[in-house]
Amino acid sequence: MIQTVLTQAVAASRPAAELGQTASYIPELSKVDKHHLGACVFTSDGGRYSAGDTKVRFSIQSISKVISLAVALELCGFETVFAQVGMEPSGDAFNAMGKLEAAGSSPSNPMINAGAIAVDSYLEPKISFDRMLAFTRKLCMDPEIGLDEKVYHSEMSNISRNRAIAYLLENKGVIRSDVERTLDFYVRMCSLSVTAESLAGLGLLLAGGGICPATGERLLSPDTVRVVKTIMLTCGMYDGSGTFAVQVGIPSKSGVGGGILSVVDRRMGIGIFGPALDGKGNSVAGERVLRHLSQQLHLHIF
Ligand code: DON
Repeated sequence: MIQTVLTQAVAASRPAAELGQTASYIPELSKVDKHHLGACVFTSDGGRYSAGDTKVRFSIQSISKVISLAVALELCGFETVFAQVGMEPSGDAFNAMGKLEAAGSSPSNPMINAGAIAVDSYLEPKISFDRMLAFTRKLCMDPEIGLDEKVYHSEMSNISRNRAIAYLLENKGVIRSDVERTLDFYVRMCSLSVTAESLAGLGLLLAGGGICPATGERLLSPDTVRVVKTIMLTCGMYDGSGTFAVQVGIPSKSGVGGGILSVVDRRMGIGIFGPALDGKGNSVAGERVLRHLSQQLHLHIF
């Protein structure tokens, strides 16, 4: 049943890739073939279902914000993380900085660039990138996840906007550690290479409240996972989060590499790869796959 629906969803959504473009502001990402489409479902009863390009590696990009937020909640605590970063959808583009200029304002949430850079500034003094990489491999049950050096250098060469955001945040006292080290950490996390399968693995771990489905080991606390899933629901698809919540109703997080991580609480993790993006930076075909799955498998939270 799940396999049939998944195969149909991918086949029906493939043509939608023509409606989008790969991200161009990170040159290395623009080289990816926009016609890739893969979707993977891992269920809590041990089922593994795949359709399309689920083993192709791609750049995790903003989906790493979920991992950084989770680890920051574990290592720094809720009060520190949310002292100067909000929990509200921004309604603006993921890399917006206009509102940050206003006196007393701070990043709306940890899923936009400003919020994630702030969170990384609390995290970076406490954990090395290598340990983050090792932990990400465990969370995703994918020992092959690595840093894509080409994407890392490409993004570091086009970092002006995030650098401007970071220095503005330092000026406002939101960032309290070294700005350049924070940016390096942020870009490294965005440059991890994953597959749709890795994202399904992470989704299943979150669906199960933080316990690794393969080993039974608790990797994240229930409180951390609850916060992360809630923020994914309200802010995970940027300024498309409201429409996505109505149409799909599954806590999800997108990245400009074309990935979408989705969590159907207690039931399944879903990983998508479709690098053709809409104007908001979300995978066009990927969203269609999720709409299809939500309808056919009754996955909407309401
Ligand atoms: O900082 C950036 O702009 C990218 N490294 C990540 C942005 C992103 O993935 C937004 N996603 N839709």
